[in-house]
Amino acid sequence: MTSPDAPTSPVDPTTTSAWAELEAHDLALDGSLREWFAEDPERAARFTHDAADLHVDLSKNLLTPETMRLLLQLAREVGVEERRDAMFAGAHLNTTEDRAVLHTALRRPAGSSPALTVDGQNIDEDVRGTLHRVYEFAQKVRSGQWTGITGKRIETVVNIGIGGSDLGPVMVYEALKPHAQDGLTARFLSNIDPTDAYETTRGLDPETTLVIVASKTFTTLETLTNARLVRSWLLDGLRESAGLTVEQEKEAVAKHFVAVSTALDKVEEFGIDPENAFGFWNWVGGRYSVDSAIGTVLATVLGPDVFEELLAGFHAMDQHFATAPAEQNVPLLMGLTNIWNVNFLDAETHAVLPYSQYLHRFPAYLQQLTMESNGKAVRWDGSLATTETGEVFWGEPGTNGQHAFYQLIHQGTRVIPADFIAFATPDHALADGEQDVHELFLANFFAQTKALAFGKTAEEVRAEGTEGALVAAREFSGDRPTTSIMAPKLTPSVLGQLIALYEHITFVQGTVWGINSFDQWGVELGKQLAKDLAGAVGGDEAKIAAEDSSTEGLIRYYRQHREG
Ligand code: F6P
Repeated sequence: MTSPDAPTSPVDPTTTSAWAELEAHDLALDGSLREWFAEDPERAARFTHDAADLHVDLSKNLLTPETMRLLLQLAREVGVEERRDAMFAGAHLNTTEDRAVLHTALRRPAGSSPALTVDGQNIDEDVRGTLHRVYEFAQKVRSGQWTGITGKRIETVVNIGIGGSDLGPVMVYEALKPHAQDGLTARFLSNIDPTDAYETTRGLDPETTLVIVASKTFTTLETLTNARLVRSWLLDGLRESAGLTVEQEKEAVAKHFVAVSTALDKVEEFGIDPENAFGFWNWVGGRYSVDSAIGTVLATVLGPDVFEELLAGFHAMDQHFATAPAEQNVPLLMGLTNIWNVNFLDAETHAVLPYSQYLHRFPAYLQQLTMESNGKAVRWDGSLATTETGEVFWGEPGTNGQHAFYQLIHQGTRVIPADFIAFATPDHALADGEQDVHELFLANFFAQTKALAFGKTAEEVRAEGTEGALVAAREFSGDRPTTSIMAPKLTPSVLGQLIALYEHITFVQGTVWGINSFDQWGVELGKQLAKDLAGAVGGDEAKIAAEDSSTEGLIRYYRQHREG
């Protein structure tokens, strides 16, 4: 397969005939979810689709079949399917870095034919080769063949990374915790706040700790600082507990530190043996990398079989996105629904509410995936975006959120589209007397989307005996858009499907907006300024005085109040 060219310039969505029709349709749109459900007994079936093991019901969104028809026309006019095909084939869609975008290649099954060759690289061979090395390493740790320098079995794997080198691994680890091998746990260190390094290493035995330094670039300040802190902690600990000598330090680092990076030369400079490093490639974005060697911590603690199942789930959703007809293509339909909500209903945020405690880090993971990808005002040809772009993603697991912020979703003045996620079978079925607790949990899941969609009218409130001003306070407008996503169980495969679903939704939205969803220049300025400010923070008077008055005042406050 050859490398196709990236499309040269984005189609301005606002110039399409679909956009004009959607605007007119928006103004003319009449009715409510109550009415639409009453008029059309097929509405739920019409808007519900399966993608691999996911069952997705879009019917409680504020749209009609005509809305969806126009949104699909919009997708055709801006070329979503063509760009999707170009991405899968290895086109350089990441224009600002002139890179292919091939996270989908990370989960192609072994032996896929024909092999994927892009820019002269046999991608399948490289991906499978690296996975093989990761799995070999993981098995050695799991079996006890790989030990620390004192011969003790590894009990804790500390993953040091930030952003995509942390959020994906920690989210998947938390989601699939029941699969962790007995006697083996993972911890995650990301923040440069020294408290994080202190708390992450607290109580650990250096002799049984293995550290994975995960950084795509191997230049990230937080990760390298934390890696040095943990290296000192480890060597100090080994000196104390095992009498480690200076001569043994190199061996100790080799036994207790491995790395994951695209920059293997920098790994070596840091002092980690390249033999103990796992690579990936610049065509994998950080936030799209949990299924690359960045998942080494997962393959080690959860096991290669679990990791393979996760990859198979990703691939199942890739296949669906690549081949399902547009009218049933779930990532496409969900991405277009988001476009409708953001660009026509003026939604600014998007809640993701997993009814699964194991998915408690999923919203945080999605924040990087969606907001680092589509939080941009410039299109891939350098021109300004012509519409609002990237919504703010946020969320917490239900039912905790119900007792915190759902008030605003139910009765506030803003439109907050929300994705509700739940599983038929729990990981731990518990009963409260006769009551199956998971059923109680799911009753909440079903109740929330019902309340948001259909609300409660003033008449219904009065019929319950409420009168006066309290009627308005107890009324629910309804017509608050939600999407329900269900699956049989939170298996590794289902988790892979969910992650890939959101990757592709992000892609669809980015394509409609004309955005390169694969770069992140917006994080650079802050990084640069943090480096520049180091002198002033450290007390260089001339540098402090040269700052703007606000920054100067804040630094002076810090210097006056810092103890120790
Ligand atoms: O600062 C943003 C970012 O570049 C993310 O895109 C990335 O996931 C994270 O930093 C960590 O980068 P690295 O894996 O290179 O350390």
